[in-house]
Amino acid sequence: HTAGVASQDLAGRRVVISAGGTREAIDPVRFIGNRSSGRQGVALAEAACARGAEVTLVAANLPESLTHPLTAAGATVVGVSSTAELRQAVRGAAPGADVVVMAAAVADFRPARTPTAKIKKVAGAPPAPIELVENPDVLAELAADRLRAGQVVVGFAAETGDDAGSVLEHGRAKALRKGADLLAVNAVGEGLGFGAEINDVTVLDSRGETVTSVAGSKREVADGLWDAIAKYLTSM
Ligand code: CTP
Ligand code: CA
Repeated sequence: HTAGVASQDLAGRRVVISAGGTREAIDPVRFIGNRSSGRQGVALAEAACARGAEVTLVAANLPESLTHPLTAAGATVVGVSSTAELRQAVRGAAPGADVVVMAAAVADFRPARTPTAKIKKVAGAPPAPIELVENPDVLAELAADRLRAGQVVVGFAAETGDDAGSVLEHGRAKALRKGADLLAVNAVGEGLGFGAEINDVTVLDSRGETVTSVAGSKREVADGLWDAIAKYLTSM
């Protein structure tokens, strides 16, 4: 894209993007959370605005300073905290959307019970372990339910290589498991991904085949991803 003159290839398209990280309450003052900065999701929303889309950002625990420029640019920003709230906001907006991008880091589990009073420290008697239950998989649900015909559903996967497989092998398995049209696989750890300045993303389709690779700033990755998504939109 020519610097400063974004093409309007998303004009008239309605997109919903989730960003940030969900928090699951342990008690009124504590939560289980994650280190997602929300910057990749915000960059996706900014890029979509610049390309003419009508943008709804479902912002999980993002500071005003990060979302304000989007509100100023005309996007709708819906603040949420827990996975249940994020799920409700995304599913509420999805039936009107041509594209849904799940860039948020969603907690896989939440405490089974949330006491209404703060858990107190009792000297020498640590509290019982926190029992966890599984959260719904918002992305997999969107891919299975298809709340709007022809909607493009896009996921993100932050992966690390381990004994069970490389970053890309994990990404391919996840692409097949989720059923999203596109999965943006991001290598994390060792200065990559979460909080980092340079990102390296491989975009897979629902069969786990590589569609494209994009490296650069979060904004450059965002524009590369929209390039890939735009092709899915025009091919329908
Ligand atoms: N996701 C979701 N709902 C969840 C968990 C994840 O919608 N309960 C979405 C994320 O927003 C992301 C994609 O699924 O777009 C992949 O998330 P990830 O955590 O990488 O996948 P998981 O299936 O949870 O696998 P794991 O954490 O074991 O790697
Ligand atoms: Ca997960």
